[in-house]
Amino acid sequence: MKTRILGKANSLTVSAVGMGCMGFSHGYGAAPERGEAIRLIRLAHELGSNFFDTAEGYGTGHNETLVGEALKPVRKKVVIATKLHIPDLNGKSVSETVKEHLRASMKRLQTDHIDLYYWHRVNPAVSLEEVAETMGKLIKEGDIGGWGLSQITEEQLRLAHSVTPLTAVQSEYSMMERMFEKDVIPACEELGVGFVPFSPLGAGFLSGKYSAKEHYSGDDVRRVITRFALENVSANQPLLELLLKFANEKNATSAQIALAWMLHKNDFIVPIPGMRKEDRVRENLGSAGVKLTAEEFSSLEKSLSEIEIYGNRTDEDIAKLHDMD
Ligand SMILES: NC(=O)c1ccc[n+]([C@@H]2O[C@H](COP(=O)([O-])OP(=O)(O)OC[C@H]3O[C@@H](n4cnc5c(N)ncnc54)[C@H](OP(=O)(O)O)[C@@H]3O)[C@@H](O)[C@H]2O)c1
Repeated sequence: MKTRILGKANSLTVSAVGMGCMGFSHGYGAAPERGEAIRLIRLAHELGSNFFDTAEGYGTGHNETLVGEALKPVRKKVVIATKLHIPDLNGKSVSETVKEHLRASMKRLQTDHIDLYYWHRVNPAVSLEEVAETMGKLIKEGDIGGWGLSQITEEQLRLAHSVTPLTAVQSEYSMMERMFEKDVIPACEELGVGFVPFSPLGAGFLSGKYSAKEHYSGDDVRRVITRFALENVSANQPLLELLLKFANEKNATSAQIALAWMLHKNDFIVPIPGMRKEDRVRENLGSAGVKLTAEEFSSLEKSLSEIEIYGNRTDEDIAKLHDMD
């Protein structure tokens, strides 16, 4: 698979499409059993992906442990990204807190360094500048290769980047969620920061394989995000029809077109779809080989601009899962 560079400073070379590992522990209902999850992570690497995304919060450490085990035999050949949450400091310093979380992540991931370390959600209880300073020190000391932030504003990006240059911003981006196109993505381009779209398939919707009849259970976010509300699934059909039309013309699948579209946009964009079945791993990673011509891309953009999108995926809606059976 072709590679891309994330970040001009503290840069990392990654495959054009990575693997989001969250679903192996969290967020999409029942996960495959451990051996199958490890097989699929290793398969993604065999198929040319070297970029794997996890977080300490996915299954409270379960996901990092799984990813660490799966990638141990190829650790030197892969780029591991993980994330920390700092809801409050409990009287400790920022530096001490970040280092504690980092050590615990490294242990679970069976590694002596993290390639890309994100702060999962900026929050007002913790100084962004101090986190950026700490990340700078960790980069100098070789504990992390680069750092990043997730779901941030342009202002937060500029502030953090002025303290320690970011390698990447990881935020939601897909044909169904384009809010960062107006500010954060152009700022990433200007500053030389990579952009890693999460939920690049709109939590799977863009594959066109989910109907309004689908039933979701457990911790599956599709129970609560409004994109999957019955009326919105119906209202969003024109988007799926457009994708299918392009997929048929390009001898590709809808999911591949949705990923090829963002890969075409900018060379600093590296999506990390989540996938837990062999055919989907092959399909999604295969999108790196689906090339849109300039005419196809502008025709797709024009059609997309004429389609209204219904529903979204917000942290507030996802928090409602805690109160459900
Ligand atoms: N920074 C953050 O706050 C944040 C938030 C969310 C996610 N993330 C990261 O981003 C990664 C990707 O996010 P996501 O998992 O929401 O992405 P996504 O790829 O948009 O959605 C994943 C869902 O789509 C389904 N899917 C994927 N490819 C498919 C295909 N070709 N055909 C049919 N269904 C398909 C998956 O099904 P199966 O899994 O059942 O195969 C899964 O249910 C996560 O794994 C995580 O690492 C980060």
